[in-house]
Amino acid sequence: MVGSGASATVYRAFDTRLEVYRAVKLLHDRHRRDIKTRHRFEEEAAVIASLRHRNIVTVYDIDAERGKPFIVMDYAPGGSLMQRIDRLGSLEPTAAVHTMIDVLDALQTAHERGIIHRDVKPHNILFGIDDVPLLTDFGVALRIDDRMTPRTRNRILGTPTYMSPEQAHNSESAGPRSDVYSAGLCLYVMLSGRQPFAGHEVADAREELEHIDPRLAEIAMRACSPSADDRYPSAAAMADALCEVGAQLPVFRPETLHTPGTAPLRYLAPPSIPPMDETWPPGLRSDEPTEDSATPSTPTPERFLEAPSLEASERRPMPPARMAPINPIAVTLLVLLFVGASATTWFVLNRLVPALAAP
Ligand SMILES: Nc1ncnc2c1ncn2[C@@H]1O[C@H](COP(=O)(O)OP(=O)(O)O)[C@@H](O)[C@H]1O
Ligand SMILES: [Mg+2]
Repeated sequence: MVGSGASATVYRAFDTRLEVYRAVKLLHDRHRRDIKTRHRFEEEAAVIASLRHRNIVTVYDIDAERGKPFIVMDYAPGGSLMQRIDRLGSLEPTAAVHTMIDVLDALQTAHERGIIHRDVKPHNILFGIDDVPLLTDFGVALRIDDRMTPRTRNRILGTPTYMSPEQAHNSESAGPRSDVYSAGLCLYVMLSGRQPFAGHEVADAREELEHIDPRLAEIAMRACSPSADDRYPSAAAMADALCEVGAQLPVFRPETLHTPGTAPLRYLAPPSIPPMDETWPPGLRSDEPTEDSATPSTPTPERFLEAPSLEASERRPMPPARMAPINPIAVTLLVLLFVGASATTWFVLNRLVPALAAP
């Protein structure tokens, strides 16, 4: 198991045919019979599949095993941003800026396709191969065309702590600037290492941001303005502001500025694939989690940084040694040789020797 959220548990699985790791997101048992949640789960896969972007996790399939629906997607070996913040305390400003620009780039693409994520938070930002940030969990995403469908009306969807005031009031009124608000909070968390709490405005947190670059603090605070009109008008506008400041930060690579999301930067040691600790399918295990846990118990991010060392039991078993094939011609020749030698010996001993010995 690599993580668990409000709706699902995510496992790492090995595709034995393509020989690659994948993540398999399995809907919690308690939601299996809830038609709305099931529908939303299927919708999540369709929404992600419609969005092709370097910083959005790729979905490969959706299926069901013994009535349990699951989504197959990219496995992100670097874990989630939340796990990373938990481990490091806060992120180095340059790393925070790069991560945020990539996430905003992904959000901009989603917004241009009429999709509002509505649950942008560090738990839903993953690190893929080469540490590329990946936006995931479109489980409560809103297709602007679907606004006010009976399915979602009057339901407050998202995570209260990271929700903009207008989304907390009515999920249907969430727009691109609501995602900008949540992105601003993510930036605040990355820089300060502090968790926001519902109703706590970033403007109140000026003190907590005192030790970081005031220009970055200003960007986080503008993105988190209580009034949507005071925020950046789009994810791209916030990304532009970050690029400008980022260019002046030490060790920022200016050549990446115009193509956010294309820099294969490594903020940490390259992640390595941890050994398998679960098999797929997990079967109907009795120890399946029943509680939501925002911070999964396994694997800890540190495990990704360890050199991969496979236990003896996890090593691929060696095929049995094969015997060299027996050549039938050689065997026939050997038999003939043996028969010939025996006949000659018999002839010499029984016929020739007595004949010579006879007077
Ligand atoms: N593709 C993935 N690769 C690695 N870990 C993942 C992946 N997807 C999700 N996770 C982990 O599982 C957790 C829950 O997944 P998520 O899709 O957010 O589920 P939920 O919809 O229930 O919130 C994430 O916070 C993350 O830690
Ligand atoms: Mg989630």
